[in-house]
Amino acid sequence: MCGIIGYVGIENSVPKLIDGLKALEYRGYDSAGIAVFTDGGITTVKAKGRIANIEELLKKSYSALSSSCGIGHTRWATHGEPSDINSHPHGTERLRLVHNGIIENYIVLKKELMDLGYTFESETDTEIASKLVDLNYKETSDCFAAVKKSLEKLQGSYALGIIFKDVPGKIFATRKDSPLIIAVSESGNFIASDIPAVLKYTNKYYQLEQGEIAIVEKDKVTVYGLDGQIIEKKLCVADWDIDAAEKGGWDHFMIKEINEEPDSIIKTIRPRVVNGLPNLQLEELSDEKLASFKNITMVACGTAMHAGLIGKTAIERLARIPVKVEIASEFRYKNPIITKDDLVIIISQSGETADTLAALRLAKERGAYTLAIVNVAGSSIAREADSTLYTWAGPEIAVASTKAYTVQISVMYLIAVKLALSVGKITEEEAKNHMRILLEHTPVACEQALLLNDECKRIADKYKDSHDLFFIGRGIDYDIAVEASLKLKEISYIHSEAYAAGELKHGTISLITTGTPVIAVCTEDELYDKMISNIKEVKARGAKVIMICKKGAKGADDVADDIFYIPELEDGLYMPIPAMTVLQLISYYTSVLLDLDVDKPRNLAKSVTVE
Ligand code: F6R
Repeated sequence: MCGIIGYVGIENSVPKLIDGLKALEYRGYDSAGIAVFTDGGITTVKAKGRIANIEELLKKSYSALSSSCGIGHTRWATHGEPSDINSHPHGTERLRLVHNGIIENYIVLKKELMDLGYTFESETDTEIASKLVDLNYKETSDCFAAVKKSLEKLQGSYALGIIFKDVPGKIFATRKDSPLIIAVSESGNFIASDIPAVLKYTNKYYQLEQGEIAIVEKDKVTVYGLDGQIIEKKLCVADWDIDAAEKGGWDHFMIKEINEEPDSIIKTIRPRVVNGLPNLQLEELSDEKLASFKNITMVACGTAMHAGLIGKTAIERLARIPVKVEIASEFRYKNPIITKDDLVIIISQSGETADTLAALRLAKERGAYTLAIVNVAGSSIAREADSTLYTWAGPEIAVASTKAYTVQISVMYLIAVKLALSVGKITEEEAKNHMRILLEHTPVACEQALLLNDECKRIADKYKDSHDLFFIGRGIDYDIAVEASLKLKEISYIHSEAYAAGELKHGTISLITTGTPVIAVCTEDELYDKMISNIKEVKARGAKVIMICKKGAKGADDVADDIFYIPELEDGLYMPIPAMTVLQLISYYTSVLLDLDVDKPRNLAKSVTVE
């Protein structure tokens, strides 16, 4: 979603802003812009489309543009279509402002400002925010007071970066429900909506909290709390390095990130296995406390929610505790039945997804214990949950989530085994065996699945021109199918659905005609024969069947047009790991062979910070 960068320092800000914007591209955007101080004024360069358009404009019309201070923005349209005019920065003669989030009371504010004589050229809520700050600046002649007063009126979510013509060399920054960091380096300081935007220059940063206002100068950062007093901030150090946030020779981030899966599992799980047993490393969450939860609810969006589906299957099978999986955007508006005896597990790669964050707050309000599974250190969800279990997958840049999903499900297994042990459903010996499979065998199975790369490419080529593609499965294979279908459609734009295989004849099978590809996920031993029957049903209607199964799966040759024999794990519960690696590769190559923008699929954003 939208991205913010700002720099003030001893060097030219323009290339730094462009670098920052490029590093933010992965979040998804449809226009971009920068505003920098120039002799006695502020110069703005903005355009619809890719950052290359800004670079082109800079080359053609602003070749001499140089400035030690400026702000930049990538916009993902919410209010008003992508256009030059709707692009940020917005502002007036006196200031420029960039904004992430949504100003909810923009209609009321616009009317008030129009009554005072303000006019508007864009359709954005951001322009209204900029003019509100302008009004307050006119009235107070004090930049800080103008920002502070504006916050009293703004409703909704925002991260703001503002520069005032009268105070060159200062960036004002603030946030509410939308992330913003202040990064510091020897040659100057930055504001940014996330860490990858500044990693090329520094990994040291301050996390801005709700309602705080920062004044960022070349050698100084001053942060004011809600009460207007200066506060001491804790300096954080990101352990992500620039290599992790760059492609490092791979064609796309997505393929790089799929290949990082085995390592990510090890990094995430190894520190949490002590003497062979699961250890969540959360002192506050004792075994007694874990054993006390009567119900568990997983809340998340998209792929993270699909990781919750695997979590449900794993916890219910091993610990026999009932688990619900809820879509965060539904959960928050349905008056959910959550009590203080419940554990609510919030899953989020970014830790900033607006609906998921709101769901977390609601669960806390209802008294539930909240446990967050998050990949981005210091993100809002990580900070607000009662306990946080980080997935250490490193930065995930491709919009389509791959390695983050793999580590999320690894953590789901860890929690399931820990819970099962806490409630006495499994013995220590059994728990140790689970940990052996998870920590030692799944990364190897994942490595072996990666060796099927060329075969995945061949299948992608064979089916890439399909209009529709179906995924079917039963039990945990259905959980896999749901995520595989999302992965395929989001980056290949091929219409795809996932169905519980036994449900086909209740309607869906009418969609199967001659040549319709059906990917059948068949890793569950107990359900294998049932799957074969379902495959025969679609075959009889002309489907082309691609089977994902274990080596030696009997009868596969008789029913399938193409077969992937994936590495076998001693407990079928863990098969989603190698199965998804293969399915992610098939999606990846489908998108590549269709010549699509794999890492930045249309209309999508990496971090969905608006509801
Ligand atoms: C799909 C994808 C999304 C995210 C969803 C939640 O590949 O990445 O469906 O899973 O937007 O995002 P996080 O995990 O950041 O809360």
